Amino acid sequence: MRDSTSTKTTALPAATGFEQTIDGKKTELYVLKNKSGAEAAITNYGAHLVSLLVPDKNGKLTDVILGFDDIAGFQKAGGAYYGATIGRYGNRLAKAKFILDGKEYKLFANNGPNTLHGGKKGFDSMVWDAKQIDSSSIELTYLSKDMEEGFPGNLKVKVVYTLTDDNAVKITYEASTDKKTVVNLTNHSYFNLNGQGSGTALNHVVQIDADGYTPVDSILIPTGKIEPVKGTPFDFTTATAIGARIETANEQLKFGKGYDHNFVLKKHDISTPIANAVGDKSGIKLEVFTEEPGLQFYTGNFMNGSNTLKGGAKDEHRTAFAMETQHYPDSPNQPSFPSTMLKPGAVYKTVTIYKFSK
Ligand code: BGC
Repeated sequence: MRDSTSTKTTALPAATGFEQTIDGKKTELYVLKNKSGAEAAITNYGAHLVSLLVPDKNGKLTDVILGFDDIAGFQKAGGAYYGATIGRYGNRLAKAKFILDGKEYKLFANNGPNTLHGGKKGFDSMVWDAKQIDSSSIELTYLSKDMEEGFPGNLKVKVVYTLTDDNAVKITYEASTDKKTVVNLTNHSYFNLNGQGSGTALNHVVQIDADGYTPVDSILIPTGKIEPVKGTPFDFTTATAIGARIETANEQLKFGKGYDHNFVLKKHDISTPIANAVGDKSGIKLEVFTEEPGLQFYTGNFMNGSNTLKGGAKDEHRTAFAMETQHYPDSPNQPSFPSTMLKPGAVYKTVTIYKFSK
């Protein structure tokens, strides 16, 4: 359903746009509801978060996630990863390869010479098995076979989305392997806290608890250094509008065409938010909690209006931002970064929470 005065959506998409058979498996749209009236829609195609309706300052339900009315929309815009679950390795791996125990693993180069967000057909394009646990949570599982996209080990992955009564989306990731491998899972939701389709996100005010970030080269591979944010446009330790410094003459902003960088989060645990953002029109505040050491803050620099979102809005330039909780990009090739290796017998488990208030 569409708001009569704008392209903002005020209801979840119809399930029919998601009912298909892909790779021999059924895809569907699943709805989560909580006791506070918030609603979320998730599809087992790529374990995408499709919609999220939370109240704004006037109590009006607002869809704060960009997405599509059907699977075809997600497929067409695949390279933008709207709302997707990303794996096996979120973010970039330099030169489409990595070395583990002295052995080189070759991957598919889907981003210039590099591998981005899993390769040619990442977890975002797979059909997951879904089990709705109750009205507010769903479990999605996927078996990524040994050498799928070039990664070693049969990796069993489980992602649980829960819409909590305090209007948070809690995402629990779990994985185990039968051979040593690398894993970096994340969610790639694009947020516009004023509502999808309500224009630029540049006036959103953002705060990130990071004193450092990982600068990149011209094709967005980390140099391996951690640079202080102090005195740079990357200092979000105090709340600042996204657009306040985005056009500053700065080599890193030039490389990213805006913000597209991994922030090195201060020491934290899941009980304290590490980042927040506020929609200037809606008053909706997003707080991000995570167990991950990094946050990719991406300001929709590659968005160009070529996709038609839910309800007819276009995905215009910088009309949303992503806060992807993660281990640092290219970690398997960067010995000084925290390790992303997973051994047989160990369990990869990490939790991220996106909490909304007004
Ligand atoms: C990356 C961007 C990329 C975007 C969509 C982000 O996670 O950092 O460089 O354009 O995903 O693919």
